[in-house]
Amino acid sequence: MAFNNRNRSLLSLVHHSERDLHYLLDLSRDLKRAKYSGQGRPTLTGKNIALIFEKSSTRTRCAFEVAAYDEGAHVTYIDPSSSQIGHKESMKDTARVLGRMYDAIEYRGASQSIVEELAEYAGVPVFNGLTDEFHPTQMLADVMTMTEHCPKPLTDISFAFVGDGRNNVANSLLLVGAKLGMDVRIGAPQELMPHADHVSMCEEFAAASGASTTITDDPLKAVSGVDFIYTDVWVSMGEPLDTWGRRVDLLLPFQVNAHLMDATGNPRVRFMHCLPAFHNCETTLGAQIAEKYPHLRNGIEVTEDVFESPANIAFEQAENRMHTIKAVLVSALT
Ligand code: CP
Ligand code: NVA
Repeated sequence: MAFNNRNRSLLSLVHHSERDLHYLLDLSRDLKRAKYSGQGRPTLTGKNIALIFEKSSTRTRCAFEVAAYDEGAHVTYIDPSSSQIGHKESMKDTARVLGRMYDAIEYRGASQSIVEELAEYAGVPVFNGLTDEFHPTQMLADVMTMTEHCPKPLTDISFAFVGDGRNNVANSLLLVGAKLGMDVRIGAPQELMPHADHVSMCEEFAAASGASTTITDDPLKAVSGVDFIYTDVWVSMGEPLDTWGRRVDLLLPFQVNAHLMDATGNPRVRFMHCLPAFHNCETTLGAQIAEKYPHLRNGIEVTEDVFESPANIAFEQAENRMHTIKAVLVSALT
């Protein structure tokens, strides 16, 4: 398999080797430095990229658009309601249409099987911009951000995800940490543990890479000594609103607050979040939750004091979405 990722889809990272990932991370760093120093040159002039979003997005959409424009490519944004996809036309047919017009397709939606089907029939590279199961482009940005904020070699870095341990971000963090030989921990209540088959696949990758994987329902054990604490929303896009009640009960002990940050025992610990985050009640949904659960007024999965502290590197992650997605585009399409 070519390690330069030419014409390669990015669907889950399951089939990317450690070397593939390092290539994408190195290229991301090169492209970031090139942009910062004014040395960036368009390498995708004349390419057309379709961006299908069946769920909403700020970062992923903007990252794909800016990355494409920086490289001289054109994009078409297809929003959740304005195409025939799903209600009038199958994904198999959509793939065969778009594959004849575009050089690559980004897809954000529900089931992983849909993005896999798109990739099977499109005949051009397909990039998963988030499904219920995986969020692979987020992982490249997250690992890049960790390397920028920790002087250790990647294989000495430890991080804990605390929260809904079987959502797309948690699944992907376990996977990428296992592939890259890192010390990766998932702290989640029993009801929200990653699925056993995903854990065993990641354990096999960990055995090959020398990674350490820990899955625990003890939040303090999860975060002990880590370099990074990572969390995500307690209810993901597509889950029913009435999921909130049970999640609040289950996940309160996993809230990232000053106590949990202190429990790492690491004064240099940094806080990570893929964003968007509920860290106060200044959003519509945040306010609705705070009205029902007044103890979450100052944040749900992360408290306002942690979010607004210098430990928070979530906005660095957000920026790195663009540099890493640019690397995915350039590596696949030049
Ligand atoms: N982190 C992330 O995927 O953000 P968006 O939902 O805004 O794209
Ligand atoms: N788990 C979240 C991630 C958002 C970027 C969701 O799927 O809504």
